[in-house]
Amino acid sequence: MKKLTVRDVAVAGKRVFVRVDFNVPFDEKTGAITDDSRIRAALPTIKYLIDSKARIILCSHLGRPDGKVVESMRLTPVVKRLSQLLGQPVSTTADCIGPDVRKAVVSLREGQVLLLENVRFHPDEEKGNPAFARALASLADIFVNDAFGASHRAHASISGIADFIPSVAGFLLEREIDMLGGLLEDPERPFAALVGGAKVSDKVAVLENIIEKIDFLLVGGGMAATFLKAESYDVGQSKVEDDLVETAARLMTTAREQGVRLMLPVDAIVAEEIGPGARAEVASLGKILPQHRIVDIGPETVQNFAAVLRECRTVFWNGPMGIFELPQFAAGTRAMANELADLKATTIIGGGSTAEIVTNMELTEKMTFVSTGGGASLQFLGGEKLPGVEALLDKDSREARRLVR
Ligand code: 3PG
Repeated sequence: MKKLTVRDVAVAGKRVFVRVDFNVPFDEKTGAITDDSRIRAALPTIKYLIDSKARIILCSHLGRPDGKVVESMRLTPVVKRLSQLLGQPVSTTADCIGPDVRKAVVSLREGQVLLLENVRFHPDEEKGNPAFARALASLADIFVNDAFGASHRAHASISGIADFIPSVAGFLLEREIDMLGGLLEDPERPFAALVGGAKVSDKVAVLENIIEKIDFLLVGGGMAATFLKAESYDVGQSKVEDDLVETAARLMTTAREQGVRLMLPVDAIVAEEIGPGARAEVASLGKILPQHRIVDIGPETVQNFAAVLRECRTVFWNGPMGIFELPQFAAGTRAMANELADLKATTIIGGGSTAEIVTNMELTEKMTFVSTGGGASLQFLGGEKLPGVEALLDKDSREARRLVR
C-alpha cells in the first residue's frame, strides 16, 4: 500500500493512539460477545506495539449511541475480552477525553495498553469536529488507523485526528487494502463474484466497478428477485426494488458486452411466510406462485454456482444467498460457504453478515481473507476513497521521509 505503516516509524517509548473497530456483536439476552473476530484482527498491531515498547492508547466506537452516553454501549465487555486475548491487563477510562483520561495516559508505561470509552458518546466524533479531533490527538505522539471497518466514516477519530499528529496504517488496515485492492488490480483469472444479500442498491457501485475484471457474476439472495424481474420472471411476493429493475437490466447488458457470464438462480426455495415455523418448498423459475416469496437459492442453482466456482482462481463473496438466519432457508448460503472453503483459489469474503456466516461456520481459516469491514469494504470495492485511509501519510511524502526510521 502507498501509505506509511506502523512498521515504518519509531514507536518505542512513544504514546501511540490506535483507532480500532471493536464494534462487535452481542447476544441480546446474555450480553456476551458473539463474534470477537474484529478484536482478534487488531491483535497483530497491538502486540507489535507492546513488543516495540510503545504506550498504547486504543480508541473505538461501539454501536450508534448518537452522541450520548448509553450504558449498554460501554466497552466494558470488550476490555475483558481484549485482556484475555492479550494475556495482560488492559486499563480503561470512563470517557475518551478530559483530565482523567490525560492522567491515565500520562501514567501509561512502555508496553501497557489503555482502552478509552466509546468515542461515539461524544456528538463531535461523528461530526468530525476539529477541536474534538485535536483533543484526541493531544493524547499521543503518533496516530495509527487500524479501524478498517469504520474507515469510510470521516469522523474525528478516523480522519480528523490525522490533521494534528503523524498518521500511519496498522497491520489490519494494510492487509485489508492489499487484499481488497488486489481484487481490483490484478486478480488471478478466472475470477467470480458471488453476490447476495437483500438489496441491489447496496451492491450496484461494487458491481459496476468490478464488472470489467470478473469472468462470472453469480447473483443470489433477496437481490436476485430484482434481476429476475428485469428478465420478466414472476417472483411472487419477493421484494423487488422497482426503481432498480432498470439498473439490473443495464448490469446484465454490460455483463454480456464485457463477456462476463452472469448467472441467476434457476430454482429457489420459496415460502408463504417468514418465521421460525415457516415451511420451505423448492420451486423452479417460472413456477413461483403469487403467494410465494424467494427465501434461498434452490438445489439446482447451488449445483450450477458450485460448478462455476470450481473453475475459478479467484472468488469474491458478499451477501447471503437467502434468509440464512432461519435454518430452513440457510442451505444455499451454507452450501456456498462450504464450497468456497474447499476451493483451491483465492477466496475473499466481504465483511458484515457474510463474514459472520463464515465465522459461525468456523470456516475463517479456510478462506484466504475475511474482511472486517461491511460498509467500508463495499465502498472501497465500489471505487470510492475511504477518508480514514486518505488521511494517512503517503510513503513518498516529505513528512513521511522525515519520519521514517
Ligand atoms: C461497521 O460495523 O460496519 C463499522 O463498525 C461501522 O459502523 P457504522 O456503520 O455504525 O459507522
